[in-house]
Amino acid sequence: MKTAQGWRFGIANMQIVNGSRQRPPLKRPMWIIVLVSLVSVLLIGAYVYPPRSYAACYVFSTSGCKSLSEWLPPAPARAFTDEEITSRVVISDILKMPPIQSENPKIAFMFLTPGLLPFEKLWDKFFHGHEDRFSVYIHASREKSVHMSRYFADREIRSEKVNWGKISMVDAERRLLANALEDPDNQHFVLLSDSCVPLHSFDYVYNYLMDTNISFIDCFEDPGPHGNGRYSEHMMPEVEKKDFRKGAQKRFSGMAIQTSLLDGSHRFSRHETWFSIKRQHALIVMADSLYYSKFKLYCKPGMEGRNCYADEHYLPTFFHMINPSGIANWSVTHVDWSEGKWHPKAYRAQDVTYELLKNITSIDMTLHVTSDEKKEVQIRPCLWNGLQRPCYLFARKFYPEALDNLMYLFSNYTTV
Ligand SMILES: *[C@@H]1O[C@H](CO)[C@@H](O)[C@H](O)[C@H]1NC(C)=O
Ligand SMILES: *[C@@H]1O[C@H](CO)[C@@H](O)[C@H](O)[C@H]1NC(C)=O
Ligand SMILES: *[C@@H]1O[C@H](CO)[C@@H](O)[C@H](O)[C@H]1NC(C)=O
Ligand SMILES: *[C@@H]1O[C@H](CO)[C@@H](O)[C@H](O)[C@H]1NC(C)=O
Repeated sequence: MKTAQGWRFGIANMQIVNGSRQRPPLKRPMWIIVLVSLVSVLLIGAYVYPPRSYAACYVFSTSGCKSLSEWLPPAPARAFTDEEITSRVVISDILKMPPIQSENPKIAFMFLTPGLLPFEKLWDKFFHGHEDRFSVYIHASREKSVHMSRYFADREIRSEKVNWGKISMVDAERRLLANALEDPDNQHFVLLSDSCVPLHSFDYVYNYLMDTNISFIDCFEDPGPHGNGRYSEHMMPEVEKKDFRKGAQKRFSGMAIQTSLLDGSHRFSRHETWFSIKRQHALIVMADSLYYSKFKLYCKPGMEGRNCYADEHYLPTFFHMINPSGIANWSVTHVDWSEGKWHPKAYRAQDVTYELLKNITSIDMTLHVTSDEKKEVQIRPCLWNGLQRPCYLFARKFYPEALDNLMYLFSNYTTV
């Protein structure tokens, strides 16, 4: 009561002071009390609500945020295991190494196929005239086939059976990378399937991949059942749920979001990661056994009643953890999931028109939709060295019957 009266008295005095510009000696202790109370309130506030922004730092502290956060109990640090420490130093050193300078830098085109490569003729046309700037590797997991193109003859590596969605798919990818890394001229490594076709000329693809320092791996966070819902606590402590990522992409062309993507009937299925990575990242994949083992053991179909697919989650999660700024977060291989089926759209001969190919090559944004109830849509521009550019260099899936139309249109649609 007394203070309240004093407070009112103080204000009254202040008005008098302002009015008369005199300084009555009585009110100084009052101001000290008010000032001390204000400072105490601020300090208590600062303790209870630690500053989160720089603005808050200016208000609460003269010596910066650090001194203030030191008052708070530190977050408990986890002791790394031997394997983790080993893995961290190796990865960190590879990331710091300057890229090996090659006299004759090449792109490794790595084909993962059950057997036949129906678009060999088209690839032959794509490669023709650029003989010293690429190399081809084929992992034919079911049957060997006769190759009509000289670029594909004798390019098969030793293969093993691949079960789509299981770790054997990641194993095949690693096998292809290991073989391709043997050639020191290979600087960039592209994973392709038998149903992939090129969308641009060789020069365009070569410059797109070589003139940037990032790898193209699709990577996004999906809090829904087909994202984090596949995470297993067994991956702890090395792989935390907050770091779990998936590689998946939805078609996005122009500004209109296809409504079929947003309605409840859409089924979000599994998406292999058709990556394109630089040499340094390929080496890191070779060096990794710790995180690979986590996915091998705890990310598989039927795991604890969930279906987790290692080939869809391992590389996105791994690179998100170790070098997030080194990956583009989209894949340069276009896949059309807009039909919302278990498999992506596969183009038949009559679908393959100049218009279709132009539509695909003009896409310059990526669309990700979460698999939870919110169906949150994330749209991002494809930024290549900071510039918005077309996202895709390759596309799938095409039926073998589409070959003739693709051959006929190739020189036309690839002229940029
Ligand atoms: C890639 O990184 C190397 C080494 O850091 C640098 O010299 C080069 O200019 C970079 N290239 C591009 C295209 O950013
Ligand atoms: C990819 O996403 C991560 C965040 O997950 C971000 O740190 C990184 O900068 C992104 N990459 C590019 C090239 O923008
Ligand atoms: C190409 O894109 C336009 C505009 O989005 C669309 O109207 C048309 O149906 C598309 N054509 C093909 C063949 O996909
Ligand atoms: C490519 O094909 C389209 C459609 O047939 C045609 O309009 C266009 O003129 C052609 N462009 C070239 C460079 O041949």
